[in-house]
Amino acid sequence: MGKLDGKVAVITGAASGMGRATALRFAKEGAAIVVADLNSQAGEATVSEIAASGGRAVFQHTDVASDAAIKALINRAVSEYGRLDITYNNAGIGGATGRLEDLTAPDWDKSFVILTRAVFLGIKYSVAPMRKVGGGSIISTSSVAGLRGVAGLHAYSAAKAAVVSLTESAAIELGHDRIRVNCICPGGVVTPLVYRGMRGGEDAARSAMARSQPIPRAGRPEDIAAMALFLASDDAEWITGTAMVVDGGMNTGNTRIKFGSGFSGPSFERPDRTNS
Ligand SMILES: NC(=O)c1ccc[n+]([C@@H]2O[C@H](COP(=O)([O-])OP(=O)(O)OC[C@H]3O[C@@H](n4cnc5c(N)ncnc54)[C@H](O)[C@@H]3O)[C@@H](O)[C@H]2O)c1
Repeated sequence: MGKLDGKVAVITGAASGMGRATALRFAKEGAAIVVADLNSQAGEATVSEIAASGGRAVFQHTDVASDAAIKALINRAVSEYGRLDITYNNAGIGGATGRLEDLTAPDWDKSFVILTRAVFLGIKYSVAPMRKVGGGSIISTSSVAGLRGVAGLHAYSAAKAAVVSLTESAAIELGHDRIRVNCICPGGVVTPLVYRGMRGGEDAARSAMARSQPIPRAGRPEDIAAMALFLASDDAEWITGTAMVVDGGMNTGNTRIKFGSGFSGPSFERPDRTNS
């Protein structure tokens, strides 16, 4: 018996990375999946992979920048499979990056359309069909960058922080309908989003990211899929409004300053050890 038997899930950004890994995992647990993405070829490949292992999935070409496309996507779940239980608002881009002084207002706005407005619309259109079946689970991908600032990621960090706040306000409003709203804050996960355009590609990203947090390995899309499965399943029945951090410990704090062994007394006394 699968953890999602009989459930229907919509997943945006399911052609690649975390969305793809989550689609495969949810299908393995018995859910029927509407795979949504801008990238039709890779989206269809996710569908074929699910079908090859005996699961059920369809592809819906979707640009999450479009209000009408998100509405059509949610409707597709109902017309195709008769219900909607899980929506995972996951599609994303890096958006406007670089120094504050160099950022432009149109690039800032575009970042928010994809990273924040699409999440709002995904939640908005999921409410009616989920209410109809007595509840549901809405999950969105935020980021550790939404919890703490990241150099050169101003728009992304602000947009992902907005996803955390929206998760909380939506959870308050929808709890009575038994619609749970949570988000996931991944740390560094090896996906095309981070290694595309990186010198050394995927391997270089993997080894650089292995050094970025206390657990010395880079994040995998499957790490995020495991959390998404938990939040989607009845195991998380009493969990709503949370931002689940899945980051190998990256968000624990400053990992660069190390204190040597000893006892640190009043600052006017000579230290008995050196910090680095
Ligand atoms: N990789 C990381 O380290 C990391 C860390 C924290 C958060 N995230 C977030 O995780 C989510 C998934 O990213 P990923 O790392 O798996 O990257 P990815 O590039 O592998 O997957 C993202 C998918 O979103 C799709 N997409 C982009 N714009 C779209 C649009 N307008 N409409 C529909 N689909 C669109 C892409 O085609 C792609 O298939 C994103 O929201 C990202 O911001 C990633």
